[in-house]
Amino acid sequence: RYSPLIDPFHREITYLRVSVTDRCDLRCVYCMAEDMTFLPKRDLLTLEELDRLCSAFIARGVRKLRLTGGEPLVRRDLMTLIRSLSRHLESGALEELTLTTNGTQLARYAAELAAAGVKRINVSVDTLDPVKFRAITRRGDLAQVLDGISAARSAGLKVKINAVALKDGNEDELERMLEWAHGFGMDLTLIETMPLGDIDGDRTDQYLPLSTVRARLERHYTLTDLPDRTGGPARYVRVAETGGRLGFITPLTHNFCESCNRVRVTCTGTLFMCLGQEDAADLRLPLRASESDEALHAAIEAGIARKPKGHDFVIDRQHKRPAVSRHMSVTGG
Ligand code: GTP
Ligand code: 5AD
Ligand code: SF4
Repeated sequence: RYSPLIDPFHREITYLRVSVTDRCDLRCVYCMAEDMTFLPKRDLLTLEELDRLCSAFIARGVRKLRLTGGEPLVRRDLMTLIRSLSRHLESGALEELTLTTNGTQLARYAAELAAAGVKRINVSVDTLDPVKFRAITRRGDLAQVLDGISAARSAGLKVKINAVALKDGNEDELERMLEWAHGFGMDLTLIETMPLGDIDGDRTDQYLPLSTVRARLERHYTLTDLPDRTGGPARYVRVAETGGRLGFITPLTHNFCESCNRVRVTCTGTLFMCLGQEDAADLRLPLRASESDEALHAAIEAGIARKPKGHDFVIDRQHKRPAVSRHMSVTGG
């Protein structure tokens, strides 16, 4: 009944990322400040509203849905939403229902996630050194996350590891992480730090271009470009020595905007057409204005019609200001 979502640059929107909470139990140095003010709970969409919103996008051709945060698993009763959304997997409308998590609560939820039809999850691990892990996340416990990952694997979930490449943070460890992830049959994706939101510190000190990392890895490994795409932004290579897949997410050194297929919704129902842009469309008002979805669909269409050609990220060495003032945890990456 509804037409697909096609933006002004002829890109079809088939991937929706929904941040179910802006809260997180960690405070990664590149993501948040130590002292964060989170949204009052009354501003959040309810689980029913999130379901209606996701379902509206699925009716418009979204085939991949990723729940993010903050940390999605800290949202109370999130499993209720996931179980409800899994009806779209059963009907065949949705191809993938997944989440990106920091892994701290995975030991508790892995089996339920698998039972609800989740096949694959992305877990953020920036270092395998417990002391560094505590330093980067400010309050995390590496052992807890590793237990979560093993619970997920035992439950039959496919796990991809995400690591943000950090100068002086994990740059000397990336080979070890590659061996570890591939040793367990997990893909590893490296991510360039993006200038989103104020953090206590200078991002230009953290920024490590992945072109440098790749050149360094190529001294010890044979990397062959792969055509595989997951529908996400990563470009993958096969590592001959480990047999595993390594992804690179390079918004700064090599942007991938021309093939963008995604939009994001925050936990308050704000639609962001691009991670690296301020422009947004409010979906909460039309969602709450009426039981019928007409106004909601009109607001979604109006937003998609304004999707920009690409993001505004630059690592600004002079001004040291984030390109975008909201934190990654608001839009969920
Ligand atoms: P796969 O389905 O495994 O390919 O996942 P994904 O890469 O789409 O999702 P994930 O949540 O693992 O995201 C990894 C990183 O990619 C996060 O840091 C996101 O912020 C970043 N990312 C995802 N989409 C975009 C995008 O459109 N633009 C930019 N600049 N970064 C993005
Ligand atoms: N730049 C790049 N990646 C970031 N993440 C959080 N903040 C940033 C940032 N400023 C990553 C997390 C997680 C994913 C959802 O986004 O580490 O892997
Ligand atoms: Fe939390 Fe993820 Fe941000 Fe770390 S990167 S503080 S785990 S939302």
